[in-house]
Amino acid sequence: IKNAPVDHRLSGKHVIVTSGPTHEPIDPVRYIANRSSGAQGTAIAAALRDLGARVSFVTGPAEVPPPHGVDVIRVQTAEEMRRAVEAALPADAAVMAAAVADWRVSNANGSKIKKDGSGRPPVLEFTENPDILAWIGALEAGRPELVVGFAAETDDVILHASSKRMRKRADWIVANDVRPETGIMGGAENAVTLITHEGAEEWPRMAKSDVAIRLAERIADSLTGSVL
Ligand code: CTP
Ligand code: CA
Repeated sequence: IKNAPVDHRLSGKHVIVTSGPTHEPIDPVRYIANRSSGAQGTAIAAALRDLGARVSFVTGPAEVPPPHGVDVIRVQTAEEMRRAVEAALPADAAVMAAAVADWRVSNANGSKIKKDGSGRPPVLEFTENPDILAWIGALEAGRPELVVGFAAETDDVILHASSKRMRKRADWIVANDVRPETGIMGGAENAVTLITHEGAEEWPRMAKSDVAIRLAERIADSLTGSVL
């Protein structure tokens, strides 16, 4: 067994991390969701834990298991995720890595929808879900000192991500290019650009676990006032 060097730069700090998709029910056996393995959010929670932070890990139904040594709060829907984040406050930082479904089905059925033999499919109606990042970014009282969002984009990555940073009042946005040809969706690597008030910083393509370590170090720099 190798002993990793102990680094407690974030001890005494509390960080909320959201991760994974949300599932929005259509009926008891069906749902709509975004594609998300939960790998990046899970790696970030583990990296923050390794720096000594107390981590509240609010996760939708992800493919990868949650890390050890964090407080795991399992949710299904965006509304449950928002309430779980609220219940986990106060926090020093919040990292919103979840792929939250933008809409939920407003006419979800309490029992399984059956084919009625007419050949006509059911008509689903949608309502917009709460934007958890925008909500936490705009909190008047109890806003975490550092609010970090993600932006998965397929075009004009920096432009879209920068406008998301402003619109959602996030301090940082971790932007990633999810065009299918990058092979990033569902893969082990990520190529991100960190958008801060100072501008856009392109990181080389690296393992999701390394993106997580680098981001956790930057969060530690920010929360402990170390020079950037
Ligand atoms: N997010 C959130 N709650 C939502 C939607 C998004 O907290 N209901 C967060 C995500 O976790 C992410 C950031 O907002 O950190 C950006 O998500 P994204 O889906 O890229 O942004 P949207 O505003 O939903 O824009 P788009 O129309 O491009 O999906
Ligand atoms: Ca969205």
